[in-house]
Amino acid sequence: MLSNTMIAKLNDQIRIEFESSNIYLQMAAWCSYKGYEGATAFLVAHAEEERMHMMKLFNYLGETGALAVIPALAKPEEEYESLSKMFEQILNHERFVTSKINELVELAYEEKDYSSLNFLQWYVAEQHEEESLFSSLIDKINLIGHDGRGLYLMDRELGKIATTA
Ligand code: FEO
Repeated sequence: MLSNTMIAKLNDQIRIEFESSNIYLQMAAWCSYKGYEGATAFLVAHAEEERMHMMKLFNYLGETGALAVIPALAKPEEEYESLSKMFEQILNHERFVTSKINELVELAYEEKDYSSLNFLQWYVAEQHEEESLFSSLIDKINLIGHDGRGLYLMDRELGKIATTA
């Protein structure tokens, strides 16, 4: 049985994963508007992934006899300066998500809640993967360059990742 504090924090994580999904979907809309087809496909797929992260929390709360609460969500921003700045924003956002997962892990330790500790290991590994993915994409953007040709190549690269993922 989960503590009330753990239930509240897991529900807050539902909100964070939901908002992440919406942020990436809005970013996908911006990329589509700007003609970045590869980035659009990549971000739509990533938005779906975030929804799956949210659903895992939803299911875990249900399985442990707690009530999952569907929250009101903040509206994502609509305008972005550039594709490279957008990916920097994504990396910063993922670092924020990692900090929230770490807080959950610390709470599980404090409460000797081994079920949640085990459940949260998946998120720890996932955050490591996501931070590493976005950090390497930013490196690539900086390597290829920010001119028209560089952006074209990066967009193509993102499209390839979206189709192979
Ligand atoms: Fe579910 Fe990208 O954090």
